[in-house]
Amino acid sequence: MSAPTPAEIERAAAILRSGGLVAFPTETVYGLGADADNEGAVRKVFSAKGRPADHPVIVHVADASQIESWVAMFPKTARRLAEEFWPGPLTLILPRSSRVMNVVTGGLNTVGLRVPSHPVAQALLREFGGAIAAPSANRFGRVSATSADHVRAEFGDELEMILDGGACEVGLESTIVDCSGDGPAVLRPGAITREQVEAVCGPLLSEDTNLTRCSGRLESHYAPRALVEIVPAMDLSSRAAELAREGKKVAVLGGPNLPLPAGVALIPWGIDHASQAQSLYAALRQVDDLGCEVVLAVPPDPSGLGAALLDRLQKAAGPRS
Ligand code: TXA
Ligand code: MG
Repeated sequence: MSAPTPAEIERAAAILRSGGLVAFPTETVYGLGADADNEGAVRKVFSAKGRPADHPVIVHVADASQIESWVAMFPKTARRLAEEFWPGPLTLILPRSSRVMNVVTGGLNTVGLRVPSHPVAQALLREFGGAIAAPSANRFGRVSATSADHVRAEFGDELEMILDGGACEVGLESTIVDCSGDGPAVLRPGAITREQVEAVCGPLLSEDTNLTRCSGRLESHYAPRALVEIVPAMDLSSRAAELAREGKKVAVLGGPNLPLPAGVALIPWGIDHASQAQSLYAALRQVDDLGCEVVLAVPPDPSGLGAALLDRLQKAAGPRS
C-alpha cells in the first residue's frame, strides 16, 4: 500500500489549519477535507465539488471520545453502534451542538459524524487535532473516487494536496444510520449491513423514501457519463447485441470469461460482493475512459453488502437531469 511520509501528513495538517483543502483516503472512498470549524474552508469544498449548499457534509473525527463537542445528545443506541463499528465505514446522524456551523449541515439541526479506520485518515486527524468536514472527493453527482488517481482525474491541480493511500478497501461510501429521530434508520446502505446494525440496535425504522436531503438519495447519483442499465443475467448477451446493432458503443461489467457478442467491451468486475464493491467505481470510470455510451450490469443479489451495491447501481442508472 502507498503510504504518505510523516512529513507529508504534517504538511497536509498545516494546509487544513490554514483553511486549505486536502484530499485523503478512507477505507470507503477518498474524502475532500477541510477544517470543520472553518466556515470559509468548508465553503471551498462546496465550490470545488459544485455541490448545492443545502447538502450536508460528514464531520470526521479521530475517535468516538471526540464527538461529544459536536453533538447535543449521544443516545444509547448510537453509542452502541459507535462502540461496535468505529473506527469503520459507519456514519451516525445525531442532533448537532452549537459548535456545528450551518455551512456543514446545510441548515439541518443534525450532524453526520464518522470515525474512519484508514491509517492515513487516522494519521491526518491526529496530526491535525481537529475535525475534518469531508464529502466524497468527486464532482457533485459523479462517481466517487477510490484511488488518488481518480481524485486527480476529478480535480486536476485544483487541490492543494492529495494524500495517496492506495486503493480504498471497501470501495462504497459509509453506511449512514440516522439516530436523531424516534428510532434508528438506515439512510444509505454500505459495508456495515442492515443486518449488522439490527443485531446491535434491534429492528430499524423503514426508510423514508421521500427524503432526498441525503445527497446519495437523489434519483441520479454516482453516475458515469455512460448510461447505466441493470439487466437480468439471462438477457445480458441479447441486450448487449441489440445495443451494438443500434451502433452504440457498449460495455458490460462482468466476471472473467463472460461470453459476449463481438465488439462489446468486458470490464472486469469482481465475482463476489466484496470485490464488486471495491471495483465498482473504478469499473464505471473505465467505461467512460473507453468512450462507451452504455454499460450493462447484472443486479447483485441484495443480501448483505449486495444491498449497497444494488443501491449504487440503481442510483447510477437513475433518470438524468
Ligand atoms: O464513506 C463516506 O461516507 C465518505 C467518506 C469520505 O467519509 N463520505 C461521503 O460523503 O460519502 P458525501 O458528502 O459524498 O455523502 C455524505 C452523505 C450525503 O448524502 C449527505 O446528504 C449525508 O451524508 N448527510 C450528511 N450529514 C447529514 C445529516 N445531518 N442528515 C442527513 N444526511 C446527512
Ligand atoms: Mg458523495
